[in-house]
Amino acid sequence: MIVGAGGMGREVYGVICLLNRLATGLPRWRVLGFVDDYPDQSHVDLVHRLGVPFLGSSHWLAGQPTTTHVALGVGQPRLRRETDQAIARYGLPAATVVHPAAEVGPDCVHGEGLFAAGGARVTTNVVLGRHVHLNQNCTVGHDAVLGDYVSVNPLAAVSGYCRLAEGVMVGTTAAVLPKLTVGRDAVVGAGACVTRDVADGVVVTGVPARPARRSAADAGPVVVAAHRRQDEVDHPA
Ligand SMILES: CC(C)(COP(=O)(O)OP(=O)(O)OC[C@H]1O[C@@H](n2cnc3c(N)ncnc32)[C@H](O)[C@@H]1OP(=O)(O)O)[C@@H](O)C(=O)NCCC(=O)NCCS
Repeated sequence: MIVGAGGMGREVYGVICLLNRLATGLPRWRVLGFVDDYPDQSHVDLVHRLGVPFLGSSHWLAGQPTTTHVALGVGQPRLRRETDQAIARYGLPAATVVHPAAEVGPDCVHGEGLFAAGGARVTTNVVLGRHVHLNQNCTVGHDAVLGDYVSVNPLAAVSGYCRLAEGVMVGTTAAVLPKLTVGRDAVVGAGACVTRDVADGVVVTGVPARPARRSAADAGPVVVAAHRRQDEVDHPA
């Protein structure tokens, strides 16, 4: 069952289709359908174009056998966390969906619900938390630790020994330099180059990355003004 009928959910479905096509002699996924508590009609129409049922709200997860796995097609990290918490009562396992052209190197560990899109590359001794999403052609270097619900967007590069706390989003084509820490629910804007640690909840943009002047719609209410004021003191414009 795929939770989320938006673009992310349909991308997850695409990877599942590819895995099934290549699964000669291996177990295959049977996609029961999409569920979404806040469906947009245009998304529902696109799900139907894929020939997959749109079932309705997440209540469809109730009563499913524990052989039914859930793939979270929710791109925004904190929405993914909220969704995971909301459906926890159904007690269903999370599907791990790794594109055949994604690479996860030796001695890496990951929590349930890992999604890795085509071209995502994780080198070695990396720890990935629950429901981490690695999007197309991103890279994660050696000894990095990514907390639960982290998203690394297309073409972003997370360097070796980085620590990304729970809920961090690294935007498209951004870079996080080695050994840096990005705090809980922080957002690294698309194209940014992070050269210093980022505090919890802060949105940074630019090269070198600096706290954004105003909170991101993406980031939501936990962008803490106090952090921004402190950062502005540290790094006046
Ligand atoms: C940084 C970010 C979170 C800001 O979101 P937001 O608050 O909604 O930003 P807005 O679009 O309202 O833009 C606010 C200002 O910041 C600028 N801005 C937005 N994103 C920026 C970025 N990545 N780098 C530099 N400046 C940026 C805008 O140009 C705008 O400037 P202006 O006020 O001078 O016109 C968002 O733009 C971003 O980069 N998200 C990453 C998304 C991503 O990777 N998506 C991929 C999905 S696969």
